Amino acid sequence: MQRTRRVLLSGATGYLGRHLHRALLSRGDEVVTIGRREADVVTDFGDPEEVHASLREVAADVALHAGALSQMGACAADPDAADRINAEASARIADRLPTLYVSTDLVFDGSSAPYGADAAPAPLSVYGRSKARGEELVRAAGGLVVRVPLLFGPSHDGRRGASDMLRSALVDGRRLGLFVDEFRTPLHVADAARGLIDLLAALPGRAGGVAHLGGPERISRFAFAERFVAVHGLDMDGIESAESADPTRPRDVSLVSDVALRRSFDAMLRDS
Ligand SMILES: NC(=O)c1ccc[n+]([C@@H]2O[C@H](COP(=O)([O-])OP(=O)(O)OC[C@H]3O[C@@H](n4cnc5c(N)ncnc54)[C@H](OP(=O)(O)O)[C@@H]3O)[C@@H](O)[C@H]2O)c1
Repeated sequence: MQRTRRVLLSGATGYLGRHLHRALLSRGDEVVTIGRREADVVTDFGDPEEVHASLREVAADVALHAGALSQMGACAADPDAADRINAEASARIADRLPTLYVSTDLVFDGSSAPYGADAAPAPLSVYGRSKARGEELVRAAGGLVVRVPLLFGPSHDGRRGASDMLRSALVDGRRLGLFVDEFRTPLHVADAARGLIDLLAALPGRAGGVAHLGGPERISRFAFAERFVAVHGLDMDGIESAESADPTRPRDVSLVSDVALRRSFDAMLRDS
């Protein structure tokens, strides 16, 4: 019988992290959470020395590192914090334990999609740059980088992820302008969690590397909304098509997935 793994999980209070936490526990893994609140190991990733000191006390087999300053606006407002949290703290975790670093399709500039795992990052935003540097540092320490796309599906506060953001705007009667000219390969958060945990199983034996965990279809944010409302019998009232004019937002960061998906895009949308 396989020995129970002890997994150090960061980001467990976040959108993806809550799904990861549940999925790890349901597989029988032992989980030690690390983060700035409600964690077994309370640490602010903005303080690399604190991270270093906390990690000395941690006993785990592997790290699943999903904690990040994930909002593009927050990163743009404080690039140093973005670098400390998304890059420096990640390096410290990867130096200490075999680490799977959750990264993003936004490390690409969008000019040559679809992107395979061997494509070179060329980030346009502060967020993308901090994640790309985190990737480099984690890989140099022998960790595995897994890039995920825009995530959707249920969130704990009803406001995170592409589908809950959309639903909450529809429920609140807020007007939304959604881009017709930005393309990604969105993935259900539960499928992302399952895929990441499957990749984590192979981690201790691997020496660095990058994998892509992309969704089943390339789609714009506006077309995503059309599909979502159709599946749920809602209407598009208040949702308008828009064109992106922000140079820090890449136009097409579709990923070529290295992991086979178990369900269709419509099945994922129905579960959102
Ligand atoms: N959501 C997406 O569509 C998407 C797409 C591509 C990649 N990703 C990647 O997936 C991962 C998870 O994203 P998410 O959407 O779940 O983000 P999220 O909901 O914002 O969660 C971020 C997590 O990181 C923690 N964190 C933030 N700053 C911290 C700090 N200074 N010290 C310690 N912990 C800190 C947060 O803790 P608090 O609860 O205390 O804030 C939270 O647990 C990230 O690496 C992100 O780059 C997400």
